Amino acid sequence: MPGTWRRILLESTGSTNDFLKEGLLGLSDRTVVRAVRQTSGKGRLGRTWESPPGGLYASILLVPPPSPEHASRVALLIADIICGELLRAGIGACVKWPNDVIAGDGKIAGILPEYGTFPVPWFVTGMGVNLAAAPSIPGRNGPPPAAWARFAPPPDPDALLDRLLLELDEAWPDRTLDPISDRAEGITGRLWMSGREVEVVRGERLDTGIVKGIDAQGRLLLSTGSGMIYLDSGELSPVRSR
Ligand code: BTN
Repeated sequence: MPGTWRRILLESTGSTNDFLKEGLLGLSDRTVVRAVRQTSGKGRLGRTWESPPGGLYASILLVPPPSPEHASRVALLIADIICGELLRAGIGACVKWPNDVIAGDGKIAGILPEYGTFPVPWFVTGMGVNLAAAPSIPGRNGPPPAAWARFAPPPDPDALLDRLLLELDEAWPDRTLDPISDRAEGITGRLWMSGREVEVVRGERLDTGIVKGIDAQGRLLLSTGSGMIYLDSGELSPVRSR
């Protein structure tokens, strides 16, 4: 089992991801920071993550980082772990590839992995889970926001964070190994829009097809008119009615 996590609790910060990135030289490996609220919470693709008190906003720091091909799979692993926590609480939940969690028909959690090489190679992953309330997700066309409290009494943010970190260590005890090597089938079984037609946007590119699952590398398998394609990034949404 890896060593302990060094915990930092902040009443307020801009973004817990940025807090770790800005303090890289003074912070050690396996530092985790949680903020009661964030004033400039960040989502994927440059979006904002509204972060009023009552949600879980936390980021972890790994120095040295996992290899680049493993890094994005850590986000998928954390999404799957959060999904498992919701299911254990009796809440119908799925993993929305590549790193969101859906409960009911809304987005309840999102993961934001970031990595770099300066001043030392580093890896930070933030997780945001809507517990008490479901703040809006500005600039997003995907599922509406959802909160844990809509389905069941929400856990205490610290208690939930403890469980997520424990499960992360159990599932991925050695960061030189693949974080999801033996989970692809399990994640496929919990995949949002599985068997249904979706659009996946990556920059200028748009692919449409039926979601078939994920492979061992965490890539989305999409059955399109011209065969099976494997996507390693993108923004997935149901096909718009034409
Ligand atoms: C997304 O779904 O677009 C990702 C959302 C990630 C939000 C979390 S909250 C904690 C951490 N700090 C941030 O600024 N963002 C992540």
